[in-house]
Amino acid sequence: MKQINTFFIRTYGCQMNELDSEILCTQLLNRNLKKVEDENEADLLIFNTCSIRDLAEQKVLGKLGSYKKHKKDKIIGVCGCMPMTKKNLLQEYPHIDFVIGTNNLLSINEILDEILTKRVQINFTETDYEKNLESFFPERINKVKASISIIRGCNNFCSYCIVPQTRGREISRDYKTIIEEANYLANHGYKEITLLGQNVNSYGKDKPEWKILFHDLLYELDKINGIERIRFMTSHPKDITIDLMKAIRDLNKICEFVHFPLQSGSNEILNKMNRKYTSENYLEKVNLLREIVPDVSIGTDIIVGFPSETDENFEDTYNLFKKISYDVAFIFAYSPRENTLAYKFSDNVPKETKDARLQKLLNLYHEILEHKYKSQIGSIKEVLVERLNKDNLLLKGRTRKFEKVIFAGQPDLIGTLQKVKISSFNHQTLIGDIINK
Ligand code: SAH
Ligand code: SF4
Ligand code: F3S
Repeated sequence: MKQINTFFIRTYGCQMNELDSEILCTQLLNRNLKKVEDENEADLLIFNTCSIRDLAEQKVLGKLGSYKKHKKDKIIGVCGCMPMTKKNLLQEYPHIDFVIGTNNLLSINEILDEILTKRVQINFTETDYEKNLESFFPERINKVKASISIIRGCNNFCSYCIVPQTRGREISRDYKTIIEEANYLANHGYKEITLLGQNVNSYGKDKPEWKILFHDLLYELDKINGIERIRFMTSHPKDITIDLMKAIRDLNKICEFVHFPLQSGSNEILNKMNRKYTSENYLEKVNLLREIVPDVSIGTDIIVGFPSETDENFEDTYNLFKKISYDVAFIFAYSPRENTLAYKFSDNVPKETKDARLQKLLNLYHEILEHKYKSQIGSIKEVLVERLNKDNLLLKGRTRKFEKVIFAGQPDLIGTLQKVKISSFNHQTLIGDIINK
């Protein structure tokens, strides 16, 4: 048997994938392997992949291609979403040793044992989810905030989206293990948890016998001592309820930030996207949320250049974006995904038009942010100090509303709540000074 001592892991994609990488990583550390940050030093390379857009896949395929000629005696594994849709990875890249899909994360050590003894390629991409994943509490990279998965999979089938194929159908995690994991994190000094799901608002709907819906779970989690903040990602607009809005208003720990992606402001496009709401329903929800939770922050994702999107359709998106004046936005150019409903439509918006629309929305977003950030100068914010800033000199944290703040301070403040007076801003970051008590 060949010896492996070190591993390197690179994660592509969303927060669920980041959490999945923590699950993989913990098992490898439990095997006494050492994690290294330089892939050249690793005996085992793991790429935890994303299929959401072509670019995400091209990055991984480029990386895998680069190892074709100089793999040396490394072991290479491809995990996550790509193996769920690209069934021929092992044939096309014979130098890959194994692929593990999104439902078989807990099998990594068994697979490694088999590879080390038999030297065969292994494909483990089952469609059913490993139930024991529910009670596996991984070690987290950050020591202040942690993500907790509450529901996996998606039943929505937005016409452009590959996720229902890569992650399967919705399965809510048993609320007892969620609460147990949140308590475990609180006992280990964590201050913030983010509840993850493709659509957290569907929580509990697949298990009516539990009689626990998403907002009920929030009431339970809010009781946990030690946790200061609770966030959640992502909400589907059609499923946001008044009960959820009231929970945000009434519970101390739930942060006043809701990410609920609009995707398009045009009803024609929303219909083709199979989003199951209209721009009018959406705006009504935003208005109601702002009434119930004044000063709430709102986030969105937008896709520009969906098949047949006209200038007028795009203007509808632009105008609604401006009207809502989002606090956080991720804007993407449409990327056709094989075997999705939209793949049958012609990808007929030229690349230059997609790029121009994307840029126009980004400019609007930056104007909105600049205006918002300017108005914050002089205000005092409560910041949870998360870590050292990239420069290793300043501290970095976030407000309840998800604004990034950097300021000078000693590293022993990491993990504490501090009052910071905002003095300036830089792109999407507020800059300030701690107010000494
Ligand atoms: N479950 C979440 C996130 C899904 S993926 C949700 O429903 O909001 C994150 C974002 O990627 C989506 O909100 C969408 O804006 C974008 N996206 C998904 N498929 C895409 C595609 N084919 N092309 C471009 N962007 C896409
Ligand atoms: Fe994709 Fe839609 Fe499901 Fe989100 S809700 S993961 S965009 S299918
Ligand atoms: Fe990508 Fe899979 Fe997440 S496709 S966005 S890593 S669920």
